Amino acid sequence: MKHTITLIPGDGIGPEVASTVVRIIEAVGVDVGWETHYAGAQALEKFGTTLPPELLESIKRNKVALKGPVTTPIGKGFTSVNVGLRKALDLYANLRPIRALPNVPCRYPELNLVIVRENTESLYAGLEHVVVPGVVESLKIITEKASTRIARYAFEYSRREGRKRITCGHKANIMKLSDGLFLDCFRKVATEYPEIEADDKIIDNACMQLVMRPEQFDVMLLENLYGDIVSDLCAGLIGGLGLVPGANIGELGAVFEAVHGSAPDIAGQGIANPTALLQSGILMLRYLGEREAADKTESAMLKVFEEGKVLTRDIGGTARTVEFADAIIQKMKA
Ligand code: NAI
Repeated sequence: MKHTITLIPGDGIGPEVASTVVRIIEAVGVDVGWETHYAGAQALEKFGTTLPPELLESIKRNKVALKGPVTTPIGKGFTSVNVGLRKALDLYANLRPIRALPNVPCRYPELNLVIVRENTESLYAGLEHVVVPGVVESLKIITEKASTRIARYAFEYSRREGRKRITCGHKANIMKLSDGLFLDCFRKVATEYPEIEADDKIIDNACMQLVMRPEQFDVMLLENLYGDIVSDLCAGLIGGLGLVPGANIGELGAVFEAVHGSAPDIAGQGIANPTALLQSGILMLRYLGEREAADKTESAMLKVFEEGKVLTRDIGGTARTVEFADAIIQKMKA
């Protein structure tokens, strides 16, 4: 079956890692037509908007997109393209599987957990205004609807993937109303899934536990801001941002992306690690029902890691992006 996928190469190392992943997906034999669209600074320059309507239409039509990192100016300039995309397409569930890879120096080589992050609300919605000069108000919105929807997603995901326990991270001891509501919704939904253990931890304690004994976690359910921070913490536990995949999923479609940024310090040098976007591409293939191709790609990638001879510099190797891709494609053919 032919798939049409929206491709957003992104900024910095985005085009390098995106073209690498496209090459690997084509090599595994999946029939894909790519619709390439620009977002962020490039789109602003060309079309006068960071999120052109054609891009959103393309994702709505195709229901699936693969996205490289997009540069976001800090403290000024346009708002985050990532946040904009999630809002425009109501991509309410953010999924970040955290799994250590062979031969990657890291603190927890056996770690395998999944973060499910609510993607539309909380402080991360960026609802801020100046009350009077020198005083800024930032609004944290938590609704029963969105909290129930993400809790149900986490339980359905866990049931489908054979995960055994979900831990809800919160600060309901202090933010009794907002985080309290998030936790209540989680507990209510949990009663519908008796086979999955449901517990909760105050988020600061959860962070300490993650650093000391992360193996106690299976799936973590977090509101938006905690999810953003904790998922980077977890990436650090298994060797860094160049490795971890991400998916933003909603009813209208899904956007698969790397969680790292556009890495301007190494852009254009051909040394970026494409593993994060490749792993996102593997999640995407599964989402599209291409399980066999996904398994084949994953197993080839894991073999390259197991051999440990062709790895990129960020994880202690010397290989260039293209050499790493060649090695994976060779393993797929073997
Ligand atoms: P970054 O993730 O781009 O870079 C942090 C460090 O990790 C750098 O030293 C970089 O070289 C390295 N790194 C990241 N990805 C790598 C890869 N695939 N291979 C090898 N090394 C890699 O984070 P930073 O510098 O904070 O952000 C740069 C820009 O990216 C900012 O404009 C930020 O807003 C944007 N950004 C975009 C994201 C997205 O589109 N999903 C996510 C995070 C940041």
